[in-house]
Amino acid sequence: MHWTRSLAIIAAAAITLGTGTLKAAAQESSSATNEKNWWRNAVFYEIYPRSYADANNDGIGDLKGITAHLDYLKDLGVDAIWLTPIYPSPQVDFGYDISDYVAIDTQYGTMADFDRLMAEANKRHIRVLMDMVMNHTSDKHKWFLQSRSSKTNPYRDWYVWHDGKGETATDKGQPPNNWQSVFGGSAWEWDDKTRQYYYHKFYTQQPDLNWNNPKVRQAFKDVIAFWLKKGVAGFRFDAITTLFEDPNLTDEGVVKDKNGNPEIRNGEPVLDNSKTDNLPEVHDVMAEMRAESDKFSTEKYPGTRVFIGETYLPNIAELLKQYGTPEKPEFHLPMDTQILLINKMDASAFRAKLEDAESELGSNVPLFVFDNHDNPRLDARYGDGVHDTDIQRVISTVLFANKGAALFYQGDEIGMKTTPPARKEDVKDPVGLRFWPAYKGRDGERTPMQWTSGPNAGFDSASAKPWLPVPSNNSTINVLAEKSDPKSLYSWYHSLIQLKKTNAAFAEGNDTMLDRNNKNVLSWKRQAAGAPPVIVCANFSAEPQSVDLVSQGIPEGAITTLLKTPGASDPSTLKHINLGPYGVYIGQLQFMISH
Ligand code: GLC
Ligand code: CA
Repeated sequence: MHWTRSLAIIAAAAITLGTGTLKAAAQESSSATNEKNWWRNAVFYEIYPRSYADANNDGIGDLKGITAHLDYLKDLGVDAIWLTPIYPSPQVDFGYDISDYVAIDTQYGTMADFDRLMAEANKRHIRVLMDMVMNHTSDKHKWFLQSRSSKTNPYRDWYVWHDGKGETATDKGQPPNNWQSVFGGSAWEWDDKTRQYYYHKFYTQQPDLNWNNPKVRQAFKDVIAFWLKKGVAGFRFDAITTLFEDPNLTDEGVVKDKNGNPEIRNGEPVLDNSKTDNLPEVHDVMAEMRAESDKFSTEKYPGTRVFIGETYLPNIAELLKQYGTPEKPEFHLPMDTQILLINKMDASAFRAKLEDAESELGSNVPLFVFDNHDNPRLDARYGDGVHDTDIQRVISTVLFANKGAALFYQGDEIGMKTTPPARKEDVKDPVGLRFWPAYKGRDGERTPMQWTSGPNAGFDSASAKPWLPVPSNNSTINVLAEKSDPKSLYSWYHSLIQLKKTNAAFAEGNDTMLDRNNKNVLSWKRQAAGAPPVIVCANFSAEPQSVDLVSQGIPEGAITTLLKTPGASDPSTLKHINLGPYGVYIGQLQFMISH
């Protein structure tokens, strides 16, 4: 299982709001508008269309709903939106089971609605990225219907078919090996018609494509070209590390716990994924796709087409490989999900990840990911039930104040909370049904976007029935209320994004960690050529803290506050930057330093 299955959902208690005070936006950065490098410090926003805005009141979010909120996104400062899959799909995995890669699911609208979304986004200089699911299709895709129809069908070899073990004319025998589906159970499904097993890393209804087949590669080059011609600014490649499997079908090893016993999760042994994940052949495919994509840039939609990767990888060295080389580039922005897995307010652990990126990724741009539609939201993983909003200010500071591009998930900006289904009969994500109650699936992070305090949170009209229930906390957690409140989390996000767009050091500077032994406060310096450095201090603890920057080699001198939470005071000396519980201070030195 890729995802952290954190079961610790912390009840929201009293929330202390903090103030986001944006002071001088020091320097104008011209690179943000640079067509070639636009992505390098861009703000990406993940939209889960099913849950964003429902324009036709059928309970399911749609493209018209997204188009209606483009002004909101513009205001927030979003440069590009990534849409999770909107292609025709039986919706077993809510769009990640695709039955046609070059059309729009009628639940979400029409191709005309898509074109209008593109045109309206373009007017607002918002770029659109599509989700590209290459590991598998739906079992209802015409390729698979052909493939399963007979062993001699020309599409047979588009998928991964094998004989079972000990199979006879009357008995299907056993699956070819011990490989498991991410969603539980064997990754092999018996198909009676042709009496073989097919491989599926995810749901049974998501058969894996055979990436050794050149026709599969060509089919996806065509799909990619189709969307690039429509003007999309790039893709987020789904489950990309899982494209290949060991052709020898070797069993995977069983992960051992600290006592040396097999690790069991939800009643199944945990496998090491060594034969089905992160096989080196993926790099060739990505370099090939990237070369195709790099040919595209249209007059109407100019600029670099960007490849983002869903890359759950064990360490920075493996992540580095995903960028490819200057001669053979692969991803512009493979996601760094190591930081997502920290799951606790641990300044030292965050520091280590930022340092890894600074020292190991060279001139590549990091993309730290903190949550998404597959993982519990930030409240559930970092909150303490008392300071949740302050804690989200700390996390979002790391998100926007590190030197990389920034990607966040819809609703993070207002502090939406994970709300898993209360009863098994309400569960929509099949994996939640399978493992209930140990794991309730991903519905909790997919509840409708909370626009207002009104009925159905403004996701759709009062008489509609949203596909997942709207959490009652929309009374206080909603866009409308937070936009007009300078102390809200929304305002904090807005201020950080403005800083990223207007302050050269904040936008482009390198990261240098300061006060590296401090277990409570994460402090770092952003420094870009020709601009005075920016200092960021974030308190990861519930106790007030004070940081002495002078002892960290910063000469004593004046600092101007750019943004801070209320517990932090404008410092009179760099010897004492005072922070309240989970407080943040961001300031710009009024002098240059040489390192
Ligand atoms: C990715 C998606 C997830 C999906 C899976 C299979 O991890 O983010 O939602 O279930 O791939 O496509
Ligand atoms: Ca709808």
